[in-house]
Amino acid sequence: MDCHTTPNWYNAPGPGSGQRVGQERLMWLDIEPSSRLKKLPPYLFADLRRVEAEARGRGVKVIRIAIGDPDNPTPDPVVEELCRAVRDVTDPNRHRYGCDVPVEQFAQAARNFYNRRYGVVLREDQIVTTSGSKDAIAQFAMAVLNPGDVAIAPSPGYPTYNIGHVFAGAETYYAPLLAQNGFLVDFDAIPMDVRRRARLLWLNYPNNPTTAVADLDFFRAAVEFGRQNNILICHDNAYGENTYDGYKAPSILQVEGADEVAVEFFSLSKACNMTGWRVGFVAGNASAVRGLRTVKENTDNGTLRAVQFAAAKALDCFEQIVPPINAVYQRRRDAVIEALNRSGWELEKPKATIYVWAPVPERYGGSSAAFAADLLDKTGVIVTPGLGYGRWGEGFFRISLTYPDEVLAEAMGRIVKMKA
Ligand SMILES: Cc1ncc(COP(=O)(O)O)c(C=O)c1O
Repeated sequence: MDCHTTPNWYNAPGPGSGQRVGQERLMWLDIEPSSRLKKLPPYLFADLRRVEAEARGRGVKVIRIAIGDPDNPTPDPVVEELCRAVRDVTDPNRHRYGCDVPVEQFAQAARNFYNRRYGVVLREDQIVTTSGSKDAIAQFAMAVLNPGDVAIAPSPGYPTYNIGHVFAGAETYYAPLLAQNGFLVDFDAIPMDVRRRARLLWLNYPNNPTTAVADLDFFRAAVEFGRQNNILICHDNAYGENTYDGYKAPSILQVEGADEVAVEFFSLSKACNMTGWRVGFVAGNASAVRGLRTVKENTDNGTLRAVQFAAAKALDCFEQIVPPINAVYQRRRDAVIEALNRSGWELEKPKATIYVWAPVPERYGGSSAAFAADLLDKTGVIVTPGLGYGRWGEGFFRISLTYPDEVLAEAMGRIVKMKA
């Protein structure tokens, strides 16, 4: 029976009811998830939302400082450009598939930006515009990995690296990010058998969740590691522009010859308060860029042209719009770190990202889940337990600075009280 031809489909009773509607019997298929979906760990933030809902249900006054999604709006010039482009009746393609009629200015603005900001010159075949990094990271695995391959991801790390690997049928080897190494990947510690089988390695500096930063020497070592082991180095540069105290984060593509073995994922989400716009680009190794372009051509239809025009605008006026955004995070970072340090933590101020990464108090025996649960229970504050970012995130928790000053202040007050 073809359910889509059932006349009362939209008013039909819920799954499993098996009731009759008119003369037709509805068949509700209980779809068995694919084996690849069954291999996925629970999605971290879905879990957090569930915990929050449960606490609210119990009447707890919850404050969530867990998710890295900017609270402030997208800067005016970008919004104005979007409005202009979406209303531009002289552009007959403004409503059409963004992939078929791409906005050339967007890729050009990205190339200009990399040249201006990093001194990196990108050829046209070295860049592909994307609908944000998350989508591109997951799609990229399809372009590069075969079933049975190994791919290396940091732990703790952004969960989507592993999710891409699972979708491609590959296996993840987790490279631990340890405090004693400044949360940098230790290339020498990656076993030889992993190096032989691995096709790609993910890096992410400035790092989520640890807030660690890497210098150009580290990226040189990464490029050398990639070259020696025939492994593509994928640098996720999602937080490269969220920097403080005058710190400027490098791009891996600044390393001489990096485009032979590396690609970089750039996103406007966090730098320009544009998470919902879904826009970014991937640049570097031309064959990797071509692979991603092919996956995209086959699985998505690109971004609305007005969004592409607006993204070009954001990149063109980056130097004007980004510093005020970072000034807000810097102020919040200072307040959060000072509050935590006043109550016994000994944290340095992170140079970059929109997070604070801190060890859980000793009495929780290193269990980030126990700390997060107790914190929620006693104070209503939700932080992200480090274990959610992988085994090596255990013992830490993450606070996001993407909440209004007064929300952070209230949350810090409650945490400090509980610690005391
Ligand atoms: C490390 C890292 N990479 C990539 C992303 C995805 O960003 P977007 O898909 O909005 O570009 C995030 C989002 O939180 C992130 O933390």
